[in-house]
Amino acid sequence: MFSIAIDGPAGAGKSYLADKLAEHYHLIHVDTGALYRTVGLYVSKKGIAKEDTDHIVASLPEITLSLSFTEGGQQVILNGETVGDKIRTPEIAAYASAVSAIPEVRTFLLETQRQLAREQGVIMDGRDIGTVILPDADVKIFLVADNRARAKRRLAEFLAKGIDTTLEEVLADVEKRDHNDSTRKTAPLKPAEDAILLDNSELSADETVAAAIAIIEEKRK
Ligand code: DC
Repeated sequence: MFSIAIDGPAGAGKSYLADKLAEHYHLIHVDTGALYRTVGLYVSKKGIAKEDTDHIVASLPEITLSLSFTEGGQQVILNGETVGDKIRTPEIAAYASAVSAIPEVRTFLLETQRQLAREQGVIMDGRDIGTVILPDADVKIFLVADNRARAKRRLAEFLAKGIDTTLEEVLADVEKRDHNDSTRKTAPLKPAEDAILLDNSELSADETVAAAIAIIEEKRK
């Protein structure tokens, strides 16, 4: 089964790249960040503070998660209901980052991710795909861009959705999440030893896709 792992920090453009590669190679794109966001959504709706690890862990048995793949891309189903864009707010991003540092949450989501890759060829994007979830992925790309470039892209996404924020706020949020994601003890954000680094600070979205296809083709030779 052919699998591609794309890891990297928030706002590097993993999702866009993975979507385009999925189209190109006829694979499904699994956005694993959406799973952490959905756990974050559930606990925030219950009124649990994001620092309250004990309560977060205690609520895991109440959560049933699955993914469906349609023309419009991946949908996350939480206890029978599609979550849609509710997971795409700055507040839920902060919750996702907090819950993703809890080992029990990572274990809870591990099998869902691995099972998908056993069933079909996937392009999976996240933080620990190449290191933990799919250590045997055929191609591993670690996508990076400098902080300002990433914050500008995230800002454009928020403004397009009508979420009012500023570049400075988004930059602070990106830097905080990078720090959390790369310093946590369990499965921190870091490139796998056999990952290929792709820095797209100076590349357009389409140039990034072309660079990734070149990397994949080289690997497949
Ligand atoms: O990619 P994203 O912004 O949707 O991810 C949301 C949060 O989930 C992010 O702060 C880190 C965490 N995450 C993770 O720890 N491991 C993954 N494989 C994917 C996301």
